[in-house]
Amino acid sequence: MPVVDVHTHMYPPAYMQLLRNRTSVPYVKSFPDDPIAGDRLVILPAEDTASTSRGRPIGPGYYDVNEKLAFMRKHHIDIPVISLANPWLDWLPSNEAAQIARQVNDDVERMCAEHEGQLYAFGTLPLSAPAEQVVAEIERLASLPHHRGIIMGTTGLGSGLDDPALDPIYAALEKHQQLVFLHPHYGLPTSVYGPRASDYGHVLPLALGFPLETTIAVTRMLLSGVWDRFPKLNVLIAHSGEARQLENRRDVWSVLKENVFLDAVIYSEVGLRAAIDASGVDRLMFGTDHPFFPPLAEGETEWLSVKLNSQAVQTALEDKQMANAVMGGNAARILRLPR
Ligand code: URA
Ligand code: ZN
Repeated sequence: MPVVDVHTHMYPPAYMQLLRNRTSVPYVKSFPDDPIAGDRLVILPAEDTASTSRGRPIGPGYYDVNEKLAFMRKHHIDIPVISLANPWLDWLPSNEAAQIARQVNDDVERMCAEHEGQLYAFGTLPLSAPAEQVVAEIERLASLPHHRGIIMGTTGLGSGLDDPALDPIYAALEKHQQLVFLHPHYGLPTSVYGPRASDYGHVLPLALGFPLETTIAVTRMLLSGVWDRFPKLNVLIAHSGEARQLENRRDVWSVLKENVFLDAVIYSEVGLRAAIDASGVDRLMFGTDHPFFPPLAEGETEWLSVKLNSQAVQTALEDKQMANAVMGGNAARILRLPR
């Protein structure tokens, strides 16, 4: 069975160019004379602070497909299913979004075609454009041979994923059997983290804000009846969702077992067991979140973030066949990948 990474991001060249041409969030700023600062990626207002250390470092791991494939080989991953990293195209002016979505998706499709059998993708949608343009891109993506679904955040058309205006989009995704990879970006309002938040690194905004943002979004979908109207709409929830009991319309457990897939990017056996209990071992798929969370120590080549996720699979699942299924067999089946 192949090892498949369903949660792995890139900013393809067409998207990098957009970020490099901008000076407000999201943007990439280069400090060509300062090898330490290098290129900085600024995607959240909270990290857009007035200093050269603004944002996070961004290197070729984010945009060079050869780096991506080298990382995958190093970690014994056979097939990455790449997705555009946040904040996708959410921020584009409405009249530019559809054309840019086509460019970015075509850029990714080209990269996949150049590495036949080694690289697949989730596409990106022009969510700031009129709904019919979003639907047109879904239809186009369904015809691209290396695309297996789409990635999106929690804002939908601007009012969240329980917005009835999304119905034609959900209908198109359901009709074309495009898996929706639901991924956080916006977190929670920074005020909830208090004045000492920056002392704690990524713990509050990423470790807690991201899963809570995702949980709220999925709960809103459920409560508004999205899965009652679109019973065949399938969603892959980032970071193993967060197993919580929800008030239901369609029964939450049936949605978890029939519509939801979970990535295994949860970094611990405890979370992984909860994900298995919630959705079943056959709906869980390994991922890395590369290139985010790189090693902190100079010269360290093995990524702890990857190791924790694969170790969690091995410890939670003593049955080797089940572990192999989570590591790639499930993804190969669900995403129709080569075996
Ligand atoms: N930080 C992000 O902004 N995105 C990810 O996917 C992971 C960490
Ligand atoms: Zn991610």
